[in-house]
Amino acid sequence: MKYPKTQFAKAFHEGDRVSSPFLIKYSAVMTGKTGKPYMNVVLTDKTGDVEARIFDNVPKYHSQAVKDTYVQVEGNAQTFNGRIQILIKDLTVLREDEVAAEEYVPVTTLNPEKLYAELKEKILSMKDPYYKALMEAIFIEDEEIAAKVKKAPAAKSMHHAYPVGLLEHVVSIFNILEFLAKHYEPYINRDLLLLGGLMHDLGKIWELQYEKTTDYTTEGRLIGHLVMGVELIEKKVRELESKPGRLPGPFPTDHRLLSKHMVLAHHGKLEYGSPKEPACIEALIVHMIDDLDSKVNAIRVFTELDNATGSWTLLNRQFERFFYKPEWARKTPNGQ
Ligand SMILES: [Fe+2]
Ligand SMILES: [Fe+2]
Repeated sequence: MKYPKTQFAKAFHEGDRVSSPFLIKYSAVMTGKTGKPYMNVVLTDKTGDVEARIFDNVPKYHSQAVKDTYVQVEGNAQTFNGRIQILIKDLTVLREDEVAAEEYVPVTTLNPEKLYAELKEKILSMKDPYYKALMEAIFIEDEEIAAKVKKAPAAKSMHHAYPVGLLEHVVSIFNILEFLAKHYEPYINRDLLLLGGLMHDLGKIWELQYEKTTDYTTEGRLIGHLVMGVELIEKKVRELESKPGRLPGPFPTDHRLLSKHMVLAHHGKLEYGSPKEPACIEALIVHMIDDLDSKVNAIRVFTELDNATGSWTLLNRQFERFFYKPEWARKTPNGQ
């Protein structure tokens, strides 16, 4: 028997009684001011997340309210600091076959096959035989990479944090890069610029795990997507060089270094995790367009999911400001 999904994370109002299954995205035991333990929980489903608290029977629920577990939640919705929070009264762990898994992954209207076809088309339009061969080896000839790119989100929470988000981000970026390559012709190397757009975040397919909820992998925490991207470039260049006749000549040193630099410099500043600051125009452009595309997406999604009624959103903690809501994002007091 499947537990029917009757209520959704983004549709609660103050005073609602809660009785519905959810997937646990995060849980932690905290200590209150009186020294009594309580639990901080984030419940999720296809509409998004809602915060929850457990104040009673913490030792009992501690072992049940575990990340990536489906649970039937009984409780009430209340407002705390202007945000909806579920006060959990009871919780039952559900088996995987008791829920319809598609109700718990964010819905995406993105078409990964169509986006991937656009990505391939761009690669096939590259002129430089070395950059082109490297991109073909990674995105066209490596099936494991293609399969992961068609699924991965671009982040855990900051931007494009939903299935296929990484591919959406990459395709969006390289359409802008294509325009800029023409705009700044002949001072820009178009193929290097596109390579930067394609490669900059590719390490995220291994930095994150995204089977149910999204989180960092051990490799992601210890190495990170910049270094993972560079390692992949080195590995693929060596493989290409070992195949007789695959390249017109030895992979040029400057191509090898510049490809890696595009990945290493894309966070722009040392304090944002870049081991190198952009040292060529192409790397600077990729950094700035990456920053632009991720911010535009983050604000769009935040505005779309925001529950506040009226013309202003609740406080956005990432940007530390309120955003003015356009007509399409406004909600009436009854949540329609
Ligand atoms: Fe990045
Ligand atoms: Fe990015």
